[in-house]
Amino acid sequence: MDSRLRGNDGNGKGQYLVMSVTHSIGSLVATPIQPNIGAEISGIDLTLPISPAQADDLRAALLRYQVVILRDQRIDRAQHTALARIFARNPEDPFFYSDTQARPIKGHREILNVYADGVTRTAADIWHTDGSWAECPPEISVLRSTEIMPSLGGDTCFASAGDAYDGLPDAMKTRIDGLRALHWKGFAQKAGGYGGLADSKRMEEAKRAYPPVAHPMVRVHPETGRRTLFVNAVYTGEVVGMDQAESDALLALLFNEVQKPDYQMRLRWTTNAIAVWDNRAVQHAATGNYTEPRMLERITTAGYGSVLGPGDVDVTANSHLVIPAKAGTHLP
Ligand SMILES: [Fe+2]
Repeated sequence: MDSRLRGNDGNGKGQYLVMSVTHSIGSLVATPIQPNIGAEISGIDLTLPISPAQADDLRAALLRYQVVILRDQRIDRAQHTALARIFARNPEDPFFYSDTQARPIKGHREILNVYADGVTRTAADIWHTDGSWAECPPEISVLRSTEIMPSLGGDTCFASAGDAYDGLPDAMKTRIDGLRALHWKGFAQKAGGYGGLADSKRMEEAKRAYPPVAHPMVRVHPETGRRTLFVNAVYTGEVVGMDQAESDALLALLFNEVQKPDYQMRLRWTTNAIAVWDNRAVQHAATGNYTEPRMLERITTAGYGSVLGPGDVDVTANSHLVIPAKAGTHLP
């Protein structure tokens, strides 16, 4: 549905037309943010229990837009957890836990306290995929703003990793389709620190607890079948089987690809807002352009099976395949 909203220029001299497009996703209304990524979602009150039909609609919206934003939702931590749970593909083991965090929230092991003092730079400012360092990386991140937010700045940027892959020359796609790269928390230090964990005892423990893992550089989305670029500037350090100079050059080129503005959207935060994104489909980066404290709370759903590469399945793009997870992971 197209809608054209009439606004004015603020000084009473004239009017302009605001072009907006909305889509219906079941009972939800989605207003896309960019042609290829992101939508603001309305038509749901998350302070009330989420019905199975609403959960289906939210999941469908997320698969379609990759990032969905819900505003003015005054939910508590239990309701935040309930929302995240609908995106978990493994109901027996729904959440990805961050046990090395500096400020754990009592009674909510699943919630990561995302805090920045507005002074110290963190690796979150660099394009990345949450938890790609894990053997079974987490899937959906559900990030909720609190009342402690900068008055200006601190936006979160998202890029479609599918678009980044699609935009590569065919020769480059062929070159990387069968390659794997190492992901490790330790690489984050090389990338520019890791918030309060940099050089700390907890960081050293985390590096030992989670040794480097090799993931396909091209990831096949397990629900849509779409190919995405799955290397990121924070956690990916080297291409398996490639000498260091060649690996560095290739990764630098691919990290740069994700930063093309055409692939991106930008979220300007408000209080009581929620951003849900699919780590299998996007990369994201915070912005460090603020000087006041900023606190959000994040829940991330657990991974479900290994990261699939193009060689792991016969993929037709956007076929909405549901691929059974491989054995050997933390599946039931
Ligand atoms: Fe992140």
